[in-house]
Amino acid sequence: LLVDKGNFRHFMAKEIHEQPEVVSHTLARYLDLNAMKTRLPDDLPFDFRTLNRIAISACGTAFYAGLVAKYWFERFARLPVDIDIASEFRYREMPLEPNGLSLFVSQSGETADTLASLRYCKQEGQHIAAIVNVEESTIARESDVIFPTLAGPEIGVASTKAFTCQLAVLTALAIAAGRARGHLSEEDERKLVEALVEIPRFAAQALRLEPQIERLAKTFSHASDVLYLGRGTSYPLAMEGALKLKEISYIHAEGYAAGELKHGPIALIDETLPVVVIAPYDRIFDKTVSNMQEVAARGGRIVLMTDPKGAEAASIDALETLVLPDMPATITPIVYALPVQLLAYHVAVFMGTDVDQPRNLAKSVTVE
Ligand code: G6P
Repeated sequence: LLVDKGNFRHFMAKEIHEQPEVVSHTLARYLDLNAMKTRLPDDLPFDFRTLNRIAISACGTAFYAGLVAKYWFERFARLPVDIDIASEFRYREMPLEPNGLSLFVSQSGETADTLASLRYCKQEGQHIAAIVNVEESTIARESDVIFPTLAGPEIGVASTKAFTCQLAVLTALAIAAGRARGHLSEEDERKLVEALVEIPRFAAQALRLEPQIERLAKTFSHASDVLYLGRGTSYPLAMEGALKLKEISYIHAEGYAAGELKHGPIALIDETLPVVVIAPYDRIFDKTVSNMQEVAARGGRIVLMTDPKGAEAASIDALETLVLPDMPATITPIVYALPVQLLAYHVAVFMGTDVDQPRNLAKSVTVE
């Protein structure tokens, strides 16, 4: 493959840094930047107006992109979303309504379980749509319609730029669905599109946190476990952060909905446990602050990812606060993904692991 690392030490670093550009390309495909509207193909094989629900199925990082999308489809389009890990979906015999839409998210388009889920849904007479990064892939070929991510080849085994591009496509789809179903006005759509257009700029700003993250990474290298917390769309991102860290640094990590803290993970908290809290200053910020207080009271070491308002309002004695720019709530899971990826990357580099080819993992899991 004619892809090189450029000036980067690893493909993963290069791919993290490419995100402002590739997300911008991807957005340009799904947005009409003159009219400030979403833009989807005219000949969609399904109609958002008549759908009762969407079933999303995917694996790994693509699954977490789907989980963020559930929040968007339900909020913008009042369209219920079932989301499953493909290896569960393919066997759980979920009842599917006639005329339903099944949506598959896959970077490679070759993941065995995702493909099996697709074939099951096809047999059940569902409309099949896929978000893929490889347009010649099996999943792409077997779909009624594809929504490509324009991330370019992703070489690092741990997915980064494919994830943010998947989110970019999914948010455009959810806005288009909201508009088609009459839940978003023209003005709502315009505001949301304005927010999406800002992603590349905010993402570039987020990358400037790298020196701070690199210093912080050293303190993580002593941890045997790390907990990630978030609410709303930051919750799937918390799980994605934990996945990234365990994949490439081999440090055990778990992502949890912040509100679930009391139902288990709080028992783990002591002075040795870093707790990464992803908390942009949004309408549920205060709830996350009380979870942080619970962590702080038990000596947990908090790393807070927030914005200037959140940093001020948190009034918490954090080990480190990573301050991102203030931005519209819709785009936070996309922009906050970058510091989350950088943290895993720098911990792994510090640990000396094989970042691009972590042990036991494959880029594309084509067998069950
Ligand atoms: C493997 C990769 C992950 C990826 C997952 C799903 O586990 O290591 O990075 O998220 O497969 O792959 P897909 O190609 O279907 O997105």
